[in-house]
Amino acid sequence: MSDLTTQILSSDAHGIADAAVILRKGGLLAFATETVYGLGGDARKDTIVAQIYAAKGRPSFNPLIVHVPDLETAQRYANFNSDALNLANAFWPGALTLVLPLRSDAGLSKLVTASLTTVAIRVPAHPIAQQILKQFDGPIAAPSANPSGRISPTTAAHVMAGLNGKIDAILDGGPCNVGLESTIIGLGAEPTLLREGGIPTSTIESCLGVKLHQAGHDITAPGQLQSHYAPAGSVRMNATGLREGETLLGFGPVDAEINLSPSGDLIEAAANLFNALHRLDEMGATQMAVSPIPMSGIGRAINDRLTRAAAPRDN
Ligand code: TXA
Ligand code: MG
Repeated sequence: MSDLTTQILSSDAHGIADAAVILRKGGLLAFATETVYGLGGDARKDTIVAQIYAAKGRPSFNPLIVHVPDLETAQRYANFNSDALNLANAFWPGALTLVLPLRSDAGLSKLVTASLTTVAIRVPAHPIAQQILKQFDGPIAAPSANPSGRISPTTAAHVMAGLNGKIDAILDGGPCNVGLESTIIGLGAEPTLLREGGIPTSTIESCLGVKLHQAGHDITAPGQLQSHYAPAGSVRMNATGLREGETLLGFGPVDAEINLSPSGDLIEAAANLFNALHRLDEMGATQMAVSPIPMSGIGRAINDRLTRAAAPRDN
């Protein structure tokens, strides 16, 4: 896999058609979604899913999200209870992933679900993702298109920086407008928050009319692995001043090397977060300090990603 030439395809009809051919031939295609870029392959084929894990260097116990164009297609792969239907109707297409009981006739690779009895499914809203799903006409397994444990990509250039030579092509759809991965909700006995993400927890709770359970410390959603989304340098959060050698990642009206949102807009900050971390890496920042970010709305997901970026590393 190390001698592939990774092509960048533009998002016109030609590019989409080429991308669908790559998927049909069993290739790996990174594509834009509204959350982050996904690294896609045919979710029914073990060898292809194994290649996704290999390209990312991902521990194989981490199951992947299956992407489909609509709720009707999703119902071929998973059983939806009434909460699941409510959430799907309210938030699909969009930045929500549902973990649901896997249908016995789903026909998905066991590697996608890591042999669990559940499957994570999402209907993305981005027009490029929608077009490739429709043209390919099959389920696409797609984790975020970054080497495992590194910052998620929100542009084609980020994908290229991490996976050049390891995948066949990148379908360039411009920068992702949400900028953070989807929110993941498990619908077992009780609706459970498995990962904070693009849709705030409070919005989901209002739709369901109940509080979400919080996932325990067992790794049901390995997005929960502690040191995840790691930039090369160290990260210190809630910084109200700079220490020697630090580079400031700002939020709100502060004088910073890079500012997530000078006006203090959390949506704008989420969209800019991973790009800012990539840029700080490129600048060679070894110690980053981050301004305090409020824990409201999507601010919770931003703080979640930064906490993981700040976690102690194994190496
Ligand atoms: O926004 C997103 O969700 C992006 C785009 C590309 O769709 N995808 C993404 O995938 O973030 P990934 O693989 O980086 O994260 C998927 C998360 C992982 O933490 C995984 O462990 C969890 O979903 N997951 C997948 N299947 C699961 C299951 N059956 N039970 C619990 N967690 C599951
Ligand atoms: Mg990821």
